[in-house]
Amino acid sequence: METAVGPSAGRTIAVLGAGGMVGSRVIAEAGARGHEVLALSRKPASEDPKVRLIAVDANDSGAVREALAGSASYAAADAVVLAVRTNPVDQEFLTGATRTVLDIAAQLGIRVLVVGGAGALRSPCDQELLVADNPEYVPAEFKTVAAAGVAQLRTCQAHPDADWVYLSPPALLEPGERTGDYRRGTDTLLTDAAGHSRISAEDLAVAVVDELENPGRERHITVAAVAHEDERPPV
Ligand SMILES: NC(=O)c1ccc[n+]([C@@H]2O[C@H](COP(=O)([O-])OP(=O)(O)OC[C@H]3O[C@@H](n4cnc5c(N)ncnc54)[C@H](OP(=O)(O)O)[C@@H]3O)[C@@H](O)[C@H]2O)c1
Repeated sequence: METAVGPSAGRTIAVLGAGGMVGSRVIAEAGARGHEVLALSRKPASEDPKVRLIAVDANDSGAVREALAGSASYAAADAVVLAVRTNPVDQEFLTGATRTVLDIAAQLGIRVLVVGGAGALRSPCDQELLVADNPEYVPAEFKTVAAAGVAQLRTCQAHPDADWVYLSPPALLEPGERTGDYRRGTDTLLTDAAGHSRISAEDLAVAVVDELENPGRERHITVAAVAHEDERPPV
């Protein structure tokens, strides 16, 4: 089952992890395109008065269900973006919250877009080697974080019913400029000619909302910045 949010205004997108680097930018992007936005986290905040703030702990499945199902005062979500993380990483929390959202979304007929980790991608030079296991991209101190992302993808893949897509960011994801451009790949890390693998959180948010408006066929996708002219190889 594939349910597109549709490019027209007035659809409802819920973002769990609303105040985070990714979540806050997805909220801004979706709101700017005229979608209704439900901002879900334990302490949600937004400067946009049109954004509906809903305090929800992802560990509380009843509260998540209630938030996504809508109420007398707001419509049920058409799609939910999962963009949570803890510091330090807590794999049990991450996979548990993911399963909770997938279960509820399957019951309610809501599409799920998980913003996960780059570690779950294949290495560009060795398709058999996950980025999480590749020291070129993941030094020892980040291995646990990368492994949690892989476990989160496996949780999605093991779910029997939900309509999900797992978006792995490139190796470097940080606040920056919204160019509106990006490259889209599937399950292999995208790098540019100089070997960089990166995108701004703003452009990742563009890709998230694009994917909800026009779902692709793949369940595991990635995106990266469009290479600058000076990073292209000489012709
Ligand atoms: N290169 C990469 O692979 C890469 C880089 C960066 C991020 N990411 C991924 O992108 C996703 C989003 O990351 P981020 O950087 O945006 O994270 P972040 O800035 O740390 O924000 C995390 C969000 O999760 C929410 N949260 C934490 N525990 C929660 C709970 N129990 N219930 C409800 N909400 C909870 C927090 O809100 P409250 O505290 O208000 O609840 C916050 O809004 C994560 O999956 C992360 O791993 C990947």
